[in-house]
Amino acid sequence: MKLWSKGFEPDKMIEQFTVGRDRELDLQLARYDVEGSMAHIRMLESIGLLSADELKVLLEGLGEIATVIERGEFTIDEGIEDVHSQVEFMLTARLGDVGKKIHSGRSRNDQVLVDLKLFMRDRLRDIAAATGRLFDTLISLSDTHRDILMPGYTHLQVAMPSSFGLWFGAYAESLADDMQLLLAAYNIANQNPLGSAAGYGSSFPLDRAMTTRLLGFSTMHYNVVAAQMSRGKTERAAAMAIGAIASTLSRLAMDVCMWMCQNFGFVSFPDELTTGSSIMPHKKNPDVFEIMRGKCNRLQSVQNEIALLTANLPLGYNRDLQLLKDIIFPATQEMIDCLDMATFMLPQMKVRTDIINDTRYDYLFTVEEVNRLVLSGMPFREAYKKVGLEVQDGTYRPNREVHHTHQGSIGNLCNEEIARKFHTLLDKISH
Ligand code: ARG
Repeated sequence: MKLWSKGFEPDKMIEQFTVGRDRELDLQLARYDVEGSMAHIRMLESIGLLSADELKVLLEGLGEIATVIERGEFTIDEGIEDVHSQVEFMLTARLGDVGKKIHSGRSRNDQVLVDLKLFMRDRLRDIAAATGRLFDTLISLSDTHRDILMPGYTHLQVAMPSSFGLWFGAYAESLADDMQLLLAAYNIANQNPLGSAAGYGSSFPLDRAMTTRLLGFSTMHYNVVAAQMSRGKTERAAAMAIGAIASTLSRLAMDVCMWMCQNFGFVSFPDELTTGSSIMPHKKNPDVFEIMRGKCNRLQSVQNEIALLTANLPLGYNRDLQLLKDIIFPATQEMIDCLDMATFMLPQMKVRTDIINDTRYDYLFTVEEVNRLVLSGMPFREAYKKVGLEVQDGTYRPNREVHHTHQGSIGNLCNEEIARKFHTLLDKISH
């Protein structure tokens, strides 16, 4: 049965091909579909298209459907195209003809738009919260590992002293940049498209300010065509933010994999957090961080998938847009899973505290030596040459004491400032 049924049923193959994974994916939109319908019918009553009694009955009916959804018992029946159709059929089955009144002044294009805005807004909040948990973990690990030195590399060659405090804090501050993009994506999602109907508005005097208020959106997409165009753009902005977080996390995962390698041996994990080999009895592999790296690298391609899917679409609704759900829905969950896994793993990472005593890292301290000479009055270029010659003729001996005091250096991590920066952004998403 179709909402648009006019006495014929479509070919079965056509039906399967066009509905695709909607019956499964739309389940995630169900609660938002009901929420959007509730706001719509309240508005319809306020402009005289429903009586107060009809509104009451319809709200109760929708409330019952909301309970079914909350209990996890909502399904989209075989032969029903999507969540929008299912909710309307359920309502009409319960309430009779009054159920058929809720669709005045709107279209499924409108419904799916508003459902997706509400869904994306919530998912972006969830991603923000998961990012916040990882951020707090990184900052606290940075604080506790503040004094543990490790080699810093450039060109993957031994360079200058770094510290685990600096390393953890670097990923935390990097997430603060990603949060800027997440906030932008959230603001784009937090706009009301409802009232665009099929994409060109309605001759009913819809009160769009009222539905904006009822659904808690910060503003509306005023132009109805722009509202329709926001499908795809909302998802793309979210994908950009996800891609940014994913790129931060994939680099972190790479560092951990590298440092677990015996040639580095900087960090290790309890046995139960590693994986083994079917042939090599000694193996304790970093599969968790490899899977994280792979997933996060794939997540960075989501924005491209969306860009290609939506490139050059003509104005107005096109069914291609349905496929956005296949791309963005799993991506949001994958992002959260990776963030949560990092938050779970990192506090259990064991860090070697004596790494830099190894003679292979002697040259980490050449710049410290140059700086000491500069402080005692020697011009930098001369001091640089003196130490360089010592390295060359094998007489250089490191002094392993480091004195970094400027903002953001080993000795002055500025974690409080970084946390303030991050949480100011996070607060704008969670409220
Ligand atoms: N399943 C559809 C989608 O996600 C719902 C909108 C259908 N609208 C239409 N005109 N066929 O895009």
